Amino acid sequence: MNTTEVSTSRPIKRVLVLDYSQTGQLGEIVGNIIAPLRQGGDIAVHVEPLRPLKPFPFPWGFFSFLDAFPESAHMAPSPLQPLSLTGEEEFDLVILPYQVWFLAPSQPVTAFLKHPLARRLLAGKPVVTVIACRNMWMLAQEKMKGLLQDCGARLLDNVVLVDPSPTMASLLTTPLWLLSGKRDLLRLLPPAGVDAASIRAAGRFGLALRDALRNGQEHGNAPLLGGLKAADSNPHLLVSERAATRSFHLWGKLLRAAGEPGQRRRYPFLLLYVVFLIALILTVVPLSLLVQSLLRPFLRRRFAQLKQRFDQPSGCGTERMHLYGH
Ligand SMILES: Cc1cc2nc3c(=O)[nH]c(=O)nc-3n(C[C@H](O)[C@H](O)[C@H](O)COP(=O)(O)O)c2cc1C
Repeated sequence: MNTTEVSTSRPIKRVLVLDYSQTGQLGEIVGNIIAPLRQGGDIAVHVEPLRPLKPFPFPWGFFSFLDAFPESAHMAPSPLQPLSLTGEEEFDLVILPYQVWFLAPSQPVTAFLKHPLARRLLAGKPVVTVIACRNMWMLAQEKMKGLLQDCGARLLDNVVLVDPSPTMASLLTTPLWLLSGKRDLLRLLPPAGVDAASIRAAGRFGLALRDALRNGQEHGNAPLLGGLKAADSNPHLLVSERAATRSFHLWGKLLRAAGEPGQRRRYPFLLLYVVFLIALILTVVPLSLLVQSLLRPFLRRRFAQLKQRFDQPSGCGTERMHLYGH
């Protein structure tokens, strides 16, 4: 992604976009969203790359992948290289894309939000979060809301793109992708990651943001991306997310007491933890999904309420899709 600025005689709206993506998946989605913003010459887009001081590897090694979990889950990220921003810049809108790491916003994005500059850049500003992950993002977004609140930002919209394959398949194909760099290592299962059609269709969010900026709608508190199927949550995953978050927190505490990230004395605990995690994935996730499907008739109202809550603020309605070519 380049960091070009556009300038014309029309009043310029300025948009800040944060950029971190290991496989390029989130980068491609964000590229499709900001392309329409750049076309008219009346919106200046500043893309700020987030560069961890010590880069996270891709593909990941087995231990480096596991070793990222305690600090990710505890939102104690490793620091970033200096930003190109000074904090004096004024933006009309902030697009904050992030991937989920161990049910929390990824470390580079968390590091940005905890950086002293973030408060200066984001205070009072409208923010659109864009998530691309496997499919467990609901509690990460709750944590994101807390981070944004600490910066005094106004969350207007949340766009979510997930891997469309069944949960039990993506729980296997995602780590294999992250450890090998190959999306389709197991030919029998669907390829890992967000599907190409959804990535392409993310352009609709850029078109709607362009129109909203031209109409000055970013000054209000209403979502800019309603009716575009921005976030279609699956509250049936909440039981697993809650169980895993609790265990990440406790194991994370133990691991952080055992040593610093990268230290070998963490390894025995990480091995123990991975056995526990696999047991959790093989028991809690399918069991909770099974029990919920058996109880579905009795829990319908509760799930509808949860879905409505987690789809907010942008919602999963489709009524404006036709305006933007879908
Ligand atoms: C360390 C790590 C932990 C992850 N944990 C989760 C998770 O808890 N939930 C989820 O849905 N996806 C998870 N993912 C998948 C990412 O959210 C993301 O989809 C993937 O890493 C590709 O992102 P990229 O744009 O940085 O390439 C994890 C990925 C990594 C690298």
